[in-house]
Amino acid sequence: MDTTHRVIVGDSRDLSAVADESVELVVTSPPYPMIELWDDLFVDHDADIADALEAGDGREAFDAMHAQLDRVWDELSRVLTDGGIACINVGDATRTVDGSFRVYPNHARILEAFEERGFDPLPDILWRKPANSAAKFMGSGMIPPNAYVTLEHEYVLIFRKGGESRSFEAGADCRYEAAYFWEERNRWFTDVWTDVRGQLQSLESDGDDLRDRSAAYPLEIPYRLISMYSTYGDTVLDPFWGTGTTSLAAMCAGRESIGCELESEFVSLFDERIADVPELSRSVARTRLESHRSFVDDREDAGSDLEYRAEHYDMPVMTKMERDISLYAVEGVESTADGYRLEHARFESNGSGSLG
Ligand SMILES: C[S@@+](CC[C@H](N)C(=O)[O-])C[C@H]1O[C@@H](n2cnc3c(N)ncnc32)[C@H](O)[C@@H]1O
Repeated sequence: MDTTHRVIVGDSRDLSAVADESVELVVTSPPYPMIELWDDLFVDHDADIADALEAGDGREAFDAMHAQLDRVWDELSRVLTDGGIACINVGDATRTVDGSFRVYPNHARILEAFEERGFDPLPDILWRKPANSAAKFMGSGMIPPNAYVTLEHEYVLIFRKGGESRSFEAGADCRYEAAYFWEERNRWFTDVWTDVRGQLQSLESDGDDLRDRSAAYPLEIPYRLISMYSTYGDTVLDPFWGTGTTSLAAMCAGRESIGCELESEFVSLFDERIADVPELSRSVARTRLESHRSFVDDREDAGSDLEYRAEHYDMPVMTKMERDISLYAVEGVESTADGYRLEHARFESNGSGSLG
């Protein structure tokens, strides 16, 4: 199996390089309005935002920043296929403007924007960022009533374009091979994710510095979303590509991808990450299979055997739907004029009981 991964250096408020209805899934994380890290970027888009901030009008600045994101949401509505899904990772912002502290509810504003564009909201996910310091309560003291709760979660807002889900031929391989394990379903389709700094994160090879400067999300987020909401053969778009985590996840998941990013520096840095993709994809597949193996062992130790067997792996599975599961690893990477072409092969168990 081959996949292609396009990278566009440009402004996703104009995605004319992407054809109408050519994308099945969007997974992205925009610059968050009213988070200071992104002020300059929004001011570059609309100089009035600087005036609003200067004048202490936080609400006007918030609206003007979202007006810029709205232009990207317009483009998503054009390029997504009917029934296609958009997953938008966003956090709310807390900020003191003109001496007044408040929360700026980015998630609520984006929800409204997608509904206005005819998307149906689906149940969303909250993921909990790791709490790492007692300093998070600094300044709140121990006396009521004027302290504020610390925000430690982000949203993945999920929307479907149009009223109807995508339809497939009965038994379509692209779906059944892309199945996930029963116990993965139980974790992934839970509305609060507390384990995203889990296994896949530790497999990433890039340093934390780049992640901090770019506000990159953990690989686990786009990898899960791609596995949950797309099939083999689908194209995943990230209009706020940053360091390319979504494309890395799409590569590991054996899907096609398109990314659009303003900063050419991030795009050049991706060339350094791409060399690690074959090993990263093997690690991801190995980790999933090993986790499944230990799930099976626990069930069997508890006296309940699993009824079905996987076709491509020497292990039982809980349900009929999981029998064709095929995980793919990247075997070859080739640069192309506008991105990369990857060769994938089904990840095999080595037959000795261990996976690799
Ligand atoms: C929150 S970061 C995304 C990080 C990304 N998920 C990752 O894992 O690296 C948002 C990115 O969107 C880019 N960006 C902001 N506005 C854009 C626009 N209009 N068109 C293209 N890229 C944009 C920023 O340069 C930044 O890299």
